[in-house]
Amino acid sequence: MERNEFIKSLGLGVALICTGSCLSSCGGKSDDPAPGGGAVGNKVNIDLNSQLTSVGSFVSTGGVLFVRLATGNATSSFVATQALCPHQGGTLNWVQASNLIQCSLHSSQYNSSGTVLRQPNDGGTTSALKVYSTSITGTTLTATIS
Ligand code: FES
Repeated sequence: MERNEFIKSLGLGVALICTGSCLSSCGGKSDDPAPGGGAVGNKVNIDLNSQLTSVGSFVSTGGVLFVRLATGNATSSFVATQALCPHQGGTLNWVQASNLIQCSLHSSQYNSSGTVLRQPNDGGTTSALKVYSTSITGTTLTATIS
């Protein structure tokens, strides 16, 4: 085989691989839930097979803080709020021992309904958290960001 023929055949193979890869990644509808978690459009998903497996566990992804409040995979077992503090954007964490959400930056606190329990410790003022509606399909928990 001549070098030119080899390069041409190699190029065709690479082109076929790239085309197949692109087509498979573009095959889904834009509103399909992201398998295994992640954000698609205004939907943020969690895979309950691997995340939020115990009461009190929490995860932030796609701008949403998900918290498991109870056992079972019903929507009432979870809460989904904005992931960053309304005061100055600090990271929010669930504190299971106190049953509340706390900001890592100025220690403001919120209950699971998003209501402010304690104002920031820098003398500033925060506001209630956005709480997002949730749904469950199979083992995928979805928050709809409004
Ligand atoms: S950024 Fe959260 S209390 Fe200041």
